[in-house]
Amino acid sequence: MSHQPIVQCEKITKTYGEGEAKTYALRGVDLTVYQQELLMIVGPSGCGKTTLLSVITGLIEADSGCCEILGQDILQLTDADKTAFRGKHIGFVFQNFNLFPALTALENVASPLIIQGMDYEKALEQARPFLKAVGIAEQADQTPAHLSGGQQQRVAIARALVHQPDLIICDEPTSALDHQAGQTAMQLLKSIAAQHQTTLIVVTHDNRIYSYADRIAEMEDGRIIGTHTDETFSLDTARSF
Ligand SMILES: Nc1ncnc2c1ncn2[C@@H]1O[C@H](COP(=O)(O)OP(=O)(O)O)[C@@H](O)[C@H]1O
Ligand SMILES: [Mg+2]
Repeated sequence: MSHQPIVQCEKITKTYGEGEAKTYALRGVDLTVYQQELLMIVGPSGCGKTTLLSVITGLIEADSGCCEILGQDILQLTDADKTAFRGKHIGFVFQNFNLFPALTALENVASPLIIQGMDYEKALEQARPFLKAVGIAEQADQTPAHLSGGQQQRVAIARALVHQPDLIICDEPTSALDHQAGQTAMQLLKSIAAQHQTTLIVVTHDNRIYSYADRIAEMEDGRIIGTHTDETFSLDTARSF
């Protein structure tokens, strides 16, 4: 891990809705994420984790505060430039895998390259070692419906890494997986990211994976209430969630 900040958020606030329906999703979040670290953001459902990821990646706009990612204030970009920025610099892994159902595993992994304009055959060639790295080279020609949940998440991990992004954002990556598949997914994510010097932000309330974190930021009610680097956290917090 270096001390180069990859993400810097200051005093981020975000509400949804108006009047009686107004929800304070983020109530002043300060967060710095450093190059090559695996930062976990943990906390109960509804505490603002997904909202924070959406602000960091420019998918939604904060009401106040500022957020720089790779030295870029993402809010200053046009929508087209935001999309291009995400396409080049960020990989995403979601709870429900979000694979393209009509594409094969290999095509899914290659899709970020194809979207960036790479020639189809060249993109498949570049994607193949990533599929191999997650241990499912033999399923290259299968569509997602023919793969288990664990295999689908491994395809999604390979896809998040294929364009060699600087930052990978994972929102509840293991929530839909059984224990063993969740462990495998985290091991792969962590080891491949380390090889490519990738920074990882993993949002989760799955305490079975806390031990993979370099640092844990604990959220509650729209705020970060503490950060921990010690291993005792996983034991203490496992009791409270
Ligand atoms: N699009 C939305 N419209 C209205 N309220 C929302 C929306 N998205 C999230 N919220 C609310 O904001 C709060 C934080 O949600 P979220 O960021 O999804 O939390 P988490 O990911 O930690 O479960 C919750 O109270 C949720 O109901
Ligand atoms: Mg969420």
